[in-house]
Amino acid sequence: MVPILRRKAALRAAVAGWRAAGETVAVVPTMGALHEGHLSLAAAAKSDADRVIVTIFVNPKQFNSQSDLDAYPRTEESDAEKLAPLAVDAIYAPDPEEIYPDGFATTVSVAALTDILCGAHRPGHFDGVATVVSKLFLQTGADRAFFGEKDFQQLQVVRRVARDLDIPTEVVGCPTIRAEDGLALSSRNGRLSDAARAQAPALYREMTAIAAALRSGAEAPPLIARATEALIDAGFERVEYLELRAVADLSPRIRADTPARLFAAAWLDGVRLIDNIAV
Ligand code: PAJ
Repeated sequence: MVPILRRKAALRAAVAGWRAAGETVAVVPTMGALHEGHLSLAAAAKSDADRVIVTIFVNPKQFNSQSDLDAYPRTEESDAEKLAPLAVDAIYAPDPEEIYPDGFATTVSVAALTDILCGAHRPGHFDGVATVVSKLFLQTGADRAFFGEKDFQQLQVVRRVARDLDIPTEVVGCPTIRAEDGLALSSRNGRLSDAARAQAPALYREMTAIAAALRSGAEAPPLIARATEALIDAGFERVEYLELRAVADLSPRIRADTPARLFAAAWLDGVRLIDNIAV
């Protein structure tokens, strides 16, 4: 089985041993409830570095409500079983006081990138992410860190943090893993009823159709208006956002005239689904 480390001292000792042997170290930060999306990151890390640490920490600072935090699945035992075949070298599942000791008073706050898309709807969320990820980078001292494009805004925020704070961990983005019907894998998908699960792929389908039209030179606003209606007709309760944005700085775009991505968050069956695709 993969060793589970609870204390940063134990983590540092393990990493020091690997470093002394000249080995490289990669980290895959997660909140557990692992699915194939997470496992693809661990596999990518393993093919890149000699040693891989998967972190599992349900970070209270990035949740917007206590009930959402309480509802977050905690499945450490099965997570460890899923990681064993990938030859992950350690799971770092820190005791909460290893991350937020008594008197903890520092927040890493990224001014750009965070007041739009998910940031506009989840106040403080990206501060919580930036703070915990900074700590995980510094505690592991990893050469590289693997993140999913599924959370593309998070990926860009984390890149900014590492650059701005001179944290020498290189951030690597990995493609979104999807179910056969196109729905992006997420621990939230399990909360959908069977009927809603059948409706959920409409999100990716509509986004793919918009992306195709954008590629042939169309403007985004009418396409987005039409897709929003189609999603409501398909059973979605609400489209929180559906926007075309530049990859580099996430600024809004009307046309895909620079490298751009389409971003969406939509509610179905009381579950908030997010997705994004390259145009
Ligand atoms: P979590 O939601 O557990 O996701 C951990 C990592 O898995 C993130 O980099 C996320 O983008 C990636 N991921 C999730 N679903 C994916 C999919 N379908 N395909 C590919 N990658 C996928 O994101 C977080 O945790 C937290 O915010 C964290 C970064 C750990 C900080 O607490």
